[in-house]
Amino acid sequence: MRTKGAHIHFEEQWNQFHLSNGEVSYLFKISEDGKLLHLYYGKAVSNSRDYSYLVEMQHRPMTTYRQEGDLLYSLEHLKQEFPEYGTTDFRHPAIQLKQKNGSFITDFRYACFQVIEGKPSLKGLPATYVEAANEAATLLITLKDEVTKAEVVLSYTLFSQLPVIARSVEVKNPSQDVLYLENLASLSLDLPDQDYRWVQLSGAWGRERYVKERDLQQGIQSIESTRGISSHQHNPFVALKRKNTTENSGEAIGVSFIYSGNFLIQAEVDTWDVTRLQAGINPFGFKWELQPAASFQAPEALLVYSDQGLNGMSQAFHAMFRNRLARGKWRNENRPVLINNWEATYFDFDEEKLVAIAEKAKEVGIDLFVLDDGWFGERNHDKAGLGDWFVNQKLLPKGIGSLAEKIRALGLKFGLWFEPEMVNKDSELYRQHPEWIIHIPHRTPQHGRNQFVLNFANDEVVDNIFEQMCKIIDESQLDYIKWDMNRPLTDIYGVNLPASQQGEVFHRYVLGVYKLYEQLTTKYPNVLFESCSSGGGRFDAGLLYYAPQCWTSDDTDAIERQKIQYGTSLVYPLSSMGAHVSITPNHQTNRLTPLKTRGNVAIFGAFGYELDLNKLDPADCLLVKEQISFYKQHQSLIHNGKFYRLVSPFEGTRNRTSWMVVAADQSQALLAVYKGLNEVNWPYDRIVLHGLDPEAVYEIEEKEYTGAELMNIGFIVSDSSSGQINEQNPLPETFDFDSKIWVIQKRGERK
Ligand code: DGJ
Repeated sequence: MRTKGAHIHFEEQWNQFHLSNGEVSYLFKISEDGKLLHLYYGKAVSNSRDYSYLVEMQHRPMTTYRQEGDLLYSLEHLKQEFPEYGTTDFRHPAIQLKQKNGSFITDFRYACFQVIEGKPSLKGLPATYVEAANEAATLLITLKDEVTKAEVVLSYTLFSQLPVIARSVEVKNPSQDVLYLENLASLSLDLPDQDYRWVQLSGAWGRERYVKERDLQQGIQSIESTRGISSHQHNPFVALKRKNTTENSGEAIGVSFIYSGNFLIQAEVDTWDVTRLQAGINPFGFKWELQPAASFQAPEALLVYSDQGLNGMSQAFHAMFRNRLARGKWRNENRPVLINNWEATYFDFDEEKLVAIAEKAKEVGIDLFVLDDGWFGERNHDKAGLGDWFVNQKLLPKGIGSLAEKIRALGLKFGLWFEPEMVNKDSELYRQHPEWIIHIPHRTPQHGRNQFVLNFANDEVVDNIFEQMCKIIDESQLDYIKWDMNRPLTDIYGVNLPASQQGEVFHRYVLGVYKLYEQLTTKYPNVLFESCSSGGGRFDAGLLYYAPQCWTSDDTDAIERQKIQYGTSLVYPLSSMGAHVSITPNHQTNRLTPLKTRGNVAIFGAFGYELDLNKLDPADCLLVKEQISFYKQHQSLIHNGKFYRLVSPFEGTRNRTSWMVVAADQSQALLAVYKGLNEVNWPYDRIVLHGLDPEAVYEIEEKEYTGAELMNIGFIVSDSSSGQINEQNPLPETFDFDSKIWVIQKRGERK
């Protein structure tokens, strides 16, 4: 079955398209009246077969039909690629286009197709890409609506080596009339049954991307954002997994929407148990004016099929995001270990204090010093200064250049925090341009954290911030930028746009953010960008295109972080998860956890520290040094290896969390186990490992095991705290919230 490479076949005798890379197949056909009928998506099936029999039709009462005299052909009964309302289908459509006469109904029909090698880019939008034409093949299908003359181009890119399909849609208006796009799904996929569990990543500030699941039911289940950012509440990702799917076996279909603003992902189960999965810009508050000759490009949605459980799905997303979404120098280079001063000082710092932290950081092996919020304008607290991207003379009278020089003289790289999209009323920028904030004329603007959102739907605003940032980047020769965003958008309105375009502000805002990122990353290719939005409020695939890492959460507690990082790993690679060791008692939970465990959790991410190392005792400083050296030794394995979730912190039956990462050539792996509270007389505990070479001999703590043993029998992780203390079994060596990382090293093949 497996034929290397991505193939797109058009089988003319059956009007059938078959996209296959030997691992997955995606099939649909053109109906006699030009509609695209979905046939199959899943594990690969053969070419040169007529799959028309999958178009099932029955006469059913209370339906409507396409042609008079025909009581069979109803789109309500059919699985489709680009469904529309008002054409006999009553489910949610992939498009709504408002016309001069007030109708929003269209009837797009097949016009032509084109197959191209490789993958075209999406103008102004983040998207996956290829580096060689044979990495993917793209099918572009043009549909036309006879009445409005509007055209739709559906794009399907199938990747050669991964079970991944990228989808997007472009709408064109070649007519003489203005059209209004009110809804456009980037992806619409009709699956033949509803026997799935819906998996979403949801939460709040400080507990982002918790794994939540439920069975699909007739009706609509959805997640969305209406906050202008992808949000802490729901991540633009959903998986549908079969009821018997585990982490390592069974079917799962994942959808990640490559977008950083309002989104909607929904599954509508109809009355015949067909599941319609859709992902796109949230139609809430969206209305795009399409002038004659104009077009609209929808963002990309990435579809992954796995028959190897959720881990198989995640590994495909990780490989795509790491290698064909993230770009630039830092895509493949080892990331610097950083120290960030936020939790160490908050706004209470001066040059001396910062340099003292940096000096200690250098001693333990840290590479990069990051100065967080407070260095600019009149920013002595969170009521002033945003928008003024020049040095805060009160805190740093010698300037940012002087601080940068001192940090660099220590042998460290230097990075700064920005919040480019925001302004405080108490700032030079606001005093000069009060009209630049997002606000509704004659209404009081709403604040969040005492700040207002700059209207990034206005190029003039974006250009101003770009120029201000360039000056600082040049002056301090920045190596790193943390781009923060600390409040959602609410009272949406763009005073620069006419009434007819107010429905564009949310999306234009996101395009403005992308534009600034693009300008900065192009002008400063060596700068490492880390995105952030009060922790992980905008941790999405859209921003990974510009910033290869993102601050995962403001919650740095090692126990909470296990859940956050576990959930995040469902779709995002470890290299993208900013993870720092902070002080105890933890600033968010007030919990005491061992430094060892804080390190053991943060190491599985883009690693760093967020504390004043001068406040640690010498033993802890030594441990920090060891953690950094361990991380540096294994960073490439952690960031590029295959990640396997083993024991879930959400299931809580074993008082454990566990995961492992395995090198691509299976020569090395790391296994991590994290414990909750110590338990007395606890059961024996074994963990079954994954991803190793069954024939290989591996060494763990000077003992040899075959890969098959470790993956079939498991590895013993029983805890010495479990037993009763006596002469043979002295004091337990472990404690609450203990953890351990084992290095698994291949020593050869089994003889
Ligand atoms: C929110 C971020 O998530 C924190 O890491 C920190 O940068 C603060 N903002 C600063 O205001």
